[in-house]
Amino acid sequence: MLDLTGKNALVTGIANNRSIAWGIAQQLHKAGANIGVTYLPDDKGKFEKKVAELVEPLNPSIFVPCNVQDDDQVQAAFDTVRDKWGKLDILIHCLAFAQKEDLTGSFANTSRGGFTTAMDISTYSLVKLCGAAQPLMTDGGSIVTLTYLGGVRVIPNYNVMGIAKAGLEMSVRYLASEMGPQNIRVNGISAGPIRTLASSAVGGILDMIHHVEEVAPLRRTVTQTEVGNTAAFLCSDLSSGITGQIIYVDSGYEIMGMG
Ligand SMILES: NC(=O)c1ccc[n+]([C@@H]2O[C@H](COP(=O)([O-])OP(=O)(O)OC[C@H]3O[C@@H](n4cnc5c(N)ncnc54)[C@H](O)[C@@H]3O)[C@@H](O)[C@H]2O)c1
Repeated sequence: MLDLTGKNALVTGIANNRSIAWGIAQQLHKAGANIGVTYLPDDKGKFEKKVAELVEPLNPSIFVPCNVQDDDQVQAAFDTVRDKWGKLDILIHCLAFAQKEDLTGSFANTSRGGFTTAMDISTYSLVKLCGAAQPLMTDGGSIVTLTYLGGVRVIPNYNVMGIAKAGLEMSVRYLASEMGPQNIRVNGISAGPIRTLASSAVGGILDMIHHVEEVAPLRRTVTQTEVGNTAAFLCSDLSSGITGQIIYVDSGYEIMGMG
């Protein structure tokens, strides 16, 4: 049975009720996990209030700011986990960012700053969060990140984010190899296209969704809940033999040769 009772799960990347991280947090909570939430702080605190209201039904015992570009904030978030929970069992890395101008048009014209920002927030952040989580995962653990087919194949307009996702997927393998002896598993979910705040920055996202609805074996795209269910599986003992893998939750689109 899928049971996460007594497990402490820290979820990053909830922005609103469309966020994939929100779908994941709900499924982890349903399976009995104790939830902690990090949010990206903004100057006016508006974001904090919105996310706090959304996650209230999950009774998060931790709710802390964590801009992954700020080392001090990352450390403070994990210090809170250590002080309140003592140990961490589950980490959900569900965030990414690239400048809008780098998610359309010419990849060859990506600026150095745009490239660096995308890699820092979308790829390096997994390494950083895993490094901070490792000493707290004293009973082993499960770490799950979110990736997309554009990190393996060329998808129009995905551009710099495709390079970031390729780096993210390779990071999953290196991290899994290094943390495996401590029984910490690291896996990625490659989700099909879903309308969210982040995906709406990718040029032509609606066309991508319609294309998937036409050619994917299941003739539809996926929901946040379906991704959440797979994440719950990857965080549970049911997946105890799986690490370093990228699991496609995409209605089967990835297998198609004439997609
Ligand atoms: N939506 C899709 O079609 C799709 C498909 C496959 C993979 N993904 C991946 O899923 C993950 C979640 O994206 P989403 O689609 O749910 O969109 P979203 O906009 O709901 O989530 C993106 C999150 O990243 C956070 N973020 C951005 N910069 C940050 C920073 N510096 N520090 C901390 N957090 C930061 C935002 O606050 C937000 O919560 C991303 O990794 C995305 O690439 C999305």
